[in-house]
Amino acid sequence: MARFDSIEAYKSKIKKILITEEEIQAAVTKTAEIINNIYDGTPILLVSILKGAFIYMAEVYKNVTVPSEIAFMTAQSYFNDTVSSGKVEITMDIKQKLEDYHVVIIEDIVDTGRTLFEIVKILKARNPKSLRVITLLDKPSRRLVDFNADLSLFTIPDHFVVGFGLDCGEYFRNLPYIAEYNNDEE
Ligand code: IMP
Ligand code: MG
Repeated sequence: MARFDSIEAYKSKIKKILITEEEIQAAVTKTAEIINNIYDGTPILLVSILKGAFIYMAEVYKNVTVPSEIAFMTAQSYFNDTVSSGKVEITMDIKQKLEDYHVVIIEDIVDTGRTLFEIVKILKARNPKSLRVITLLDKPSRRLVDFNADLSLFTIPDHFVVGFGLDCGEYFRNLPYIAEYNNDEE
């Protein structure tokens, strides 16, 4: 776990703002509008995988006007470099019976794609009325499995990023923007 000797050391890890607070707010509004248009009046379940998507989920949910519930799950992934798709164990599951819902997964970022590839497989096996995946960020150049979200708000290059829910060693989730993380050693 990272330790910071000073506030300057902490701030020096934020290299460059990639997506501003205003751009993110516009993307949040757009996400909710798309959900409101697609699911005109039908009950939906918004699902996100903790912790990375919790802020995006909350901000989108505030702007959703169709009847909707939210649910959170946590998952542990077991992958190695030679096997492109691995094992995902759900460590906290959702309680809803998915047969009753149109499901929308709200994700922070699709990187290698492995986590969502497995989660979507698991949730589809529970026969939801429908299932869509919306991700705030997409790093297509890092993909290791054949997975794409139904909607990606921003495509970003292969940089490690923090902010708006995304962390490095549990820090920086509370930044109101998305920033490139500075990996340089002091
Ligand atoms: P996957 O590689 O697509 O399975 O992504 C797994 C998870 O890794 C994502 O849901 C994020 O929580 C995390 N992750 C991937 N890239 C980044 C990043 O640039 N910053 C912070 N977390 C990331
Ligand atoms: Mg995530």
